[in-house]
Amino acid sequence: MTNANNAVTNTEAKTAAFLTVADIQAMNMEAISSQPVEMVAAHELFGFSTELKGVGLLPVFTDSHPLVPKINNDHVFSESLVRRILLSMKGGDSSILLVGDKGTGKSSLVTQMHARLTKPMIGITGSNGIDDTHLLGCKTIKGGDVKEVDGVLSYAYRKGLTCLIDELCTLRPGVLVGINDILQGDGVINLKHHGIDPSLDPRALLDVNGGMTIVKHPMFRLFATDNTGGKQQRDARFSGTNAQNSAVRSRMTSFTVPFMAPEQEMAALQGSANAYANAKKLTAMDTMHTRQLVEFAFRFRKSFSMEEACDNISFREIQRWAHKWMMYGDLDESFVDAVYNNLEETDRVLALEHFESVFARKLILPEEHAFSVGDVADKFIKANIATNKAA
Ligand SMILES: Nc1ncnc2c1ncn2[C@@H]1O[C@H](COP(=O)(O)OP(=O)(O)O)[C@@H](O)[C@H]1O
Ligand SMILES: [Mg+2]
Repeated sequence: MTNANNAVTNTEAKTAAFLTVADIQAMNMEAISSQPVEMVAAHELFGFSTELKGVGLLPVFTDSHPLVPKINNDHVFSESLVRRILLSMKGGDSSILLVGDKGTGKSSLVTQMHARLTKPMIGITGSNGIDDTHLLGCKTIKGGDVKEVDGVLSYAYRKGLTCLIDELCTLRPGVLVGINDILQGDGVINLKHHGIDPSLDPRALLDVNGGMTIVKHPMFRLFATDNTGGKQQRDARFSGTNAQNSAVRSRMTSFTVPFMAPEQEMAALQGSANAYANAKKLTAMDTMHTRQLVEFAFRFRKSFSMEEACDNISFREIQRWAHKWMMYGDLDESFVDAVYNNLEETDRVLALEHFESVFARKLILPEEHAFSVGDVADKFIKANIATNKAA
């Protein structure tokens, strides 16, 4: 503390042009220690009944911050995953990758952990069009002057936010290689791709004030989510993703996010259905129906694991089904719009079987699915012939 304070006091006399890496580090530490915090037992923060081994107390910032996500009280956390992620953060891991099937709750695990930890974060969703300028910034012209701007990642690195990159492996592989220094947790990075002022003395090249050097804020973390973990894919479900350089992957700590256990999924679904019913003033779904939706999902997932289905059913889909069931007041129509329509043809046949097993009756398809064009045409032509004959 004293050292940090001294360093800051010392820096006060300096103009921005003379700040060193150590000055910025001291200023960051000072900014952190001046924020009001409360120490809370980790397991209480996440609603677990027993202590999280090795985690202990965590600082919770008591001042509000607009970049801290809103708490979803119905979020169901996996104790083991939360514990290991917290310990990895505490241990200083800078970049954490969450890998799992669609809708297993990767993005919401990150946002809900940050909501409980009161840690501010910003996010960006990966795509083929994202490049280093979106992540690390560039030089631009504003009002006739050349100006340096940050990308979402360099800004988070500088300011001590978490940066969440969703769908990481949709990025072109070279883009990730370009942020290797951040991925591996370097404390200082240089944005040389912004261009170098030729009048600059090489001795001053790495000065903080040169605009090219950024000092890592101790609260910075990079989180990323992906379905593939950056490994090679032949599966059409993952079209749009790229295999990533293995040196990139090796710089990140990876966690697998699985589907929730059935009881957890029921609790999450019931919580989400209740919140939706409340917000929309609908009759809440009873637990028997929640159980049936989760059973449908697990029957389908079992088929997928046995390679009978081409795709999986995610929590996102059964959540949408639950919401629509309450909104439509109709089990069958809500199922078709929330789940069935998005399935591949062969998976639709399987879905009909599983629906029948769970609800002990056949699905009643709405009219757009109930009749084939052939049936409609035959009926119409027959009626026309009869009309013509009668005329
Ligand atoms: N453990 C959970 N508890 C409560 N809701 C969850 C949980 N996991 C996922 N959800 C909900 O399911 C939906 C999909 O989750 P999301 O995090 O977007 O999945 P992913 O990023 O893995 O595709 C969101 O509406 C989210 O709130
Ligand atoms: Mg996601």
